[in-house]
Amino acid sequence: MRTPRRFRFRRTTRMLLGGLTAAALVAGLIVTLSASAPTPQAAATYRDPHQPVEARVADLLGRMSLDDKLGQLTQAERASVNPADLTSYRIGSVLSGGGSAPTPNTPTAWADMYDRFQGAALATPLGIPMIYGVDAVHGHNNVVGATIFPHNIGLGATGNPELVERIGRATAAEVRGTGIPWNFAPCLCVARNDRWGRTYESFGEHPDLPSAMTSVISGMQGPSLADPGAVLATAKHYVGDGGTVGGVDQGDTRLSEAELRRIHLPPFRAAIERGVGSIMISFNSWNGTKLHGHRHLVTDVLKTELGFTGFVVSDWNGIDQIDGVPGLSAADVRQAVNAGVDMAMVPTEWRRFIDLLRVEVRAGRVTTARIDDAVRRILTKKFELGLFERPYADRSYAATIGSAGHRALARQAVAESQVLLKNADGILPLDPANNLIFVAGTNADDIGHQSGGWTISWQGGSGAITPGTSVLAGIRAAVDPSSTVTYDPAGHGVDSSYRVAVAVVGEGPYAEGAGDRPGAMGLSGTDLATIDRLRAAGVPVVVVLVSGRPLDIAGQLPDWQALLAAWLPGTEGDGVADVLFGAHQPTGRLPVTWLASASQLPINDGDGQTPLFPYGFGLSYPGQP
Ligand code: GLC
Repeated sequence: MRTPRRFRFRRTTRMLLGGLTAAALVAGLIVTLSASAPTPQAAATYRDPHQPVEARVADLLGRMSLDDKLGQLTQAERASVNPADLTSYRIGSVLSGGGSAPTPNTPTAWADMYDRFQGAALATPLGIPMIYGVDAVHGHNNVVGATIFPHNIGLGATGNPELVERIGRATAAEVRGTGIPWNFAPCLCVARNDRWGRTYESFGEHPDLPSAMTSVISGMQGPSLADPGAVLATAKHYVGDGGTVGGVDQGDTRLSEAELRRIHLPPFRAAIERGVGSIMISFNSWNGTKLHGHRHLVTDVLKTELGFTGFVVSDWNGIDQIDGVPGLSAADVRQAVNAGVDMAMVPTEWRRFIDLLRVEVRAGRVTTARIDDAVRRILTKKFELGLFERPYADRSYAATIGSAGHRALARQAVAESQVLLKNADGILPLDPANNLIFVAGTNADDIGHQSGGWTISWQGGSGAITPGTSVLAGIRAAVDPSSTVTYDPAGHGVDSSYRVAVAVVGEGPYAEGAGDRPGAMGLSGTDLATIDRLRAAGVPVVVVLVSGRPLDIAGQLPDWQALLAAWLPGTEGDGVADVLFGAHQPTGRLPVTWLASASQLPINDGDGQTPLFPYGFGLSYPGQP
């Protein structure tokens, strides 16, 4: 029997309502279940690149366990950690220390290594990508074949922030060519005592110069960190590393707060204004207190007063030094994190760091709020870099490594960094044609020496350590076939037939404390003997000084016809020849005051002492505007 129409309507309605009710019950069950169970990662807010970074960070933070968070605060050195450790301990960062490279040391091997670590990081429950850091302080200097630019003291001599910005961009491309998105550069130290082994890492003794050269940060980070060619820059070392007593590396900077702020703080303010993404803490103390544990300077001044919103990374085992007792202690860890260190560079002791910090957090001696602040800062940069969307090496940038364009840029920088300090009788520029030139000196034909520390290895090396053009090769390439160039490192064979002798002398490579010079500041006996041999032949001597700082040469200068400060030019030594032969005018100006005697050190502009050459000094060629 068919159901009467009105009843059919009701039944239909009933059926419909019943169906809706059932559907509503099922839907409600799904909602209930989903509310209790985590959203599948694939659909999670933090996985959605269209969501604001702040929302992604908040979502991810809310999903993280304490161990997830502690891992993000931890940075291990590549040789002291296995990829599997990144998965097990949820380590958020890996670094290459100076010279720490895969074997073979090729861009491909670097990118493969990077991807192995990254794959392991992504295998964690939340799949948070790791961030890999490296010191590319004058080009991607750990990598054989990379373009090695002049060290900062030479770039300071150029007085050209726009050029330095382009160097930052080129360096970023080469670093990305190996997959790496984070550079522990630039060093913004204000070198106040040339005895310091890191003087060459400073753009100059006056804060205005390093402040101006923060343009390199804009080059490295570009308009957006999401740009595949951008890297996260690191302003280092915060703060006062160049002002220690006696120029002792990792020593004590004894200044009033007003002086510290006047001399050493401005470059960091400038870096923050440029949006620098990370800041590294310095090893030195300030009036006896280690910076790594200095809450006032790290949190009150850097983060609160200057408004730094990136993350703070400690220096290599720098945390260990806080309590004055060797090794990493609970007190070290507690004080560093509470002072404002967000990521700990604990190359080998990363397990101990995690275990100690876990205890401190559980005991309430380090608050969850402090941990979350650190994690939030780190995750923000990882999201901004696009690491969640593009975690693996973009190998399209590998072709930029050591490219002709980058080497040409480096050559330009070398030429602009040369400072002409003496030019008696206008002996310079040299005539490239019909000339008889004798070249000598320990640094004339040595890529390692002209590159200095932080090149292929931490301390640098001697000889052909990486492809490049030595100063001698540059001279040979600059002359016409009608000229003769003879070379002997010690000057043997020179005679009066030569029109000019070019002595390329100075310092061998060094880095950090190994380069401290508490004693004499002059040339080596070998170099002095070479110059004497040249002079004894009656040949006018042009000295090219390849060094990381001014040297004590006042006593010998009267016997030299000319003096050119070449600093540490890197792989493109032909830039020195460009100035020697006039292809490029000498436009460099001293970024540091030049001592008249080692007894004057420290000597700085305006301190009332009489230098051999003042800050900002530099000659031009006759007729040069
Ligand atoms: C070094 C340096 C620092 C560098 C870090 C990682 O000790 O002080 O400039 O970035 O360790 O290599």
